[in-house]
Amino acid sequence: MPKKKTVVSFKLNGQSVDVLVEPRELLIHTLREKCAHTGPHIGCETTHCGACTVDMNGTSVKSCTVLTVQAAEAELLTIEGMAQGGELHALQEGFMQEHGLQCGFCTPGMITRAFRLLKENPNPTDEEIRFGMAGNLCRCTGYQNIVKSVQYAARKLRGETVTTSHPLLEEVSTGTR
Ligand code: FES
Ligand code: FES
Repeated sequence: MPKKKTVVSFKLNGQSVDVLVEPRELLIHTLREKCAHTGPHIGCETTHCGACTVDMNGTSVKSCTVLTVQAAEAELLTIEGMAQGGELHALQEGFMQEHGLQCGFCTPGMITRAFRLLKENPNPTDEEIRFGMAGNLCRCTGYQNIVKSVQYAARKLRGETVTTSHPLLEEVSTGTR
């Protein structure tokens, strides 16, 4: 017997979107398969890894644990909405400058989670970053550079001077290599 579908409307990175979904459809699948937003990744699909993290109405959510129908009339932000006017978000720049990724699988979720963390706490300690991002797992980096990346972005968003702690990257970006 065919399952009843319903139209769900939300704003995705500022754009109005209507999707036709079954009541059981998960938001991560809608974003990736119906909205062509493949930045949020599917890792565990059981709320453990955070690769699917998106921002929904000002809160970080794991989109593998949200039904699309629960996102009706929501404001959603994904990694695709971070850069503005051709400029990387401070967090994207920070992850690049501080080498906060290796394979990059966790990175969209990390950045999206860190976006909300810095909105709530613009001047976090390293410990607060580790605690605030405990729901996002990375199996490559050992986390140290992720914390540095978030601190880089926090400094930049506060209007402070930013420099990378990786001198070789700095040489490349300033054209000395
Ligand atoms: Fe959603 Fe892992 S895929 S938490
Ligand atoms: Fe590979 Fe985090 S960079 S999982």
